Amino acid sequence: MEKIASLCKRRGFVFQSSEIYGGLSSCWDYGPLGIELKRNITEAWWRDMITSREDMVGLDSSILMHPRVWEASGHVAGFTDPLVDCKQCKQRFRADQLSGERCPECGGELTESRNFNLMFKTFMGPVEDTASVVYMRPETAQGIFVNFQNVLNSSRQKIPFGIGQIGKSFRNEITPGNFLFRTREFEQMEIEFFVKPGEDERWHAYWKAERFAWYQKYGVNPARLRLREHGSDELAHYAKGCADVEYEFPFGWSELEGIANRGDFDLKQHAQFSGKDLSFFDEEARERFVPYVIEPSAGVGRPLLAFLVDAYDEDVVQDETRVVLRLDPRLAPVKAAVFPLMRKDGQPEKAMAIRDQLKRHFAVAYDQAGAIGRRYRRQDEIGTPFSITVDHETMQNDTVTVRERDSMQQVRMPVDRLVDELRARVTVGRAGVIAPAL
Ligand code: GAP
Repeated sequence: MEKIASLCKRRGFVFQSSEIYGGLSSCWDYGPLGIELKRNITEAWWRDMITSREDMVGLDSSILMHPRVWEASGHVAGFTDPLVDCKQCKQRFRADQLSGERCPECGGELTESRNFNLMFKTFMGPVEDTASVVYMRPETAQGIFVNFQNVLNSSRQKIPFGIGQIGKSFRNEITPGNFLFRTREFEQMEIEFFVKPGEDERWHAYWKAERFAWYQKYGVNPARLRLREHGSDELAHYAKGCADVEYEFPFGWSELEGIANRGDFDLKQHAQFSGKDLSFFDEEARERFVPYVIEPSAGVGRPLLAFLVDAYDEDVVQDETRVVLRLDPRLAPVKAAVFPLMRKDGQPEKAMAIRDQLKRHFAVAYDQAGAIGRRYRRQDEIGTPFSITVDHETMQNDTVTVRERDSMQQVRMPVDRLVDELRARVTVGRAGVIAPAL
């Protein structure tokens, strides 16, 4: 993890929030490469889960919602973790994560455990009183439930169908940590899939398989992935059943995504609290029911960290250690780098012209500094799948060499084929899994 965190900082994937002020604990900023990687992940999810499917639509609901939403959802009463303080060193811990009776840091005496609500509170409008309390949403899911009828009335969807959303969530975690893994501000990619009661088990099995396969589709090593069913003592207050997709991080097997069967808990609660009918009338069967909900709920930071950890590799090339991120080309932040072999004979100008042509389609870098081997290494370290070199032959016949990151194989090809060849290998939604050598 230290190697990944240091690479992230050095190359501009992730910075600590407000670093010049000493940093803000558990908050992170995505740098120029990190934001490209994050966007590629969320775009892959959006395309695979929403736009390429007939039974899914998207939504972007607001972070601040009516406070009654969180009463209905059970978050005001129940979204708590058991908190203990050390009387000696004043550190705070989650009681359910401690193995002994004493402080794990200093051995001091601990207070009695008390329930701590994880929602961030703030005030809406100029008056800071109890009537103006609003919460920063702790999950995007509730924005979907309260819009269920709006989407049903305004789209042509019928049960079974789902609503997906990507957005920020906030939780005042007692013990954040492990870099991007547990933070207080994070992004979620959530689906609420509405089904007929009785068909929920089948759809739950479907979504577990679908989401488990998604990580492998983007290159995560299957040996480091598992699907873990929750025991009945682990289930959230709303869940009939749940399984987690887990990844074997350097700090152990941990959750990337939860896939829960929420039953009809949420729609019934919101119907009761709002007084609005949230049932569905099935025209064919002539029956009315409150749909059950299957919820595949992933973060963005955790999958991003898993993609990075999984892609990180070191090998030896010409007696030198090479750090290489073997990211799926569709997720890689930079798709291709263009180099002039020499800084003369018109090669830089030609390389820049190729860069400008490719830039209209993909994220592309240009580098003319230092020996060509060094330039390859700089791209390998950030996971750039293809490096294109302009040399003296280019100036004669308009061909370039294209080097593939993993095999380090090079082929020569005409400049006018570059856009099509790259597009076939680096575009999300294209057929083919890992790009073969060109
Ligand atoms: N709507 C259901 C829900 O929010 P969850 O298991 O609490 O379920 C879903 O969260 C996903 O959101 C997790 O699998 C994880 O990827 C991400 N997540 C939750 N809390 C997080 C945190 N503090 N930091 C980063 N990601 C988090």
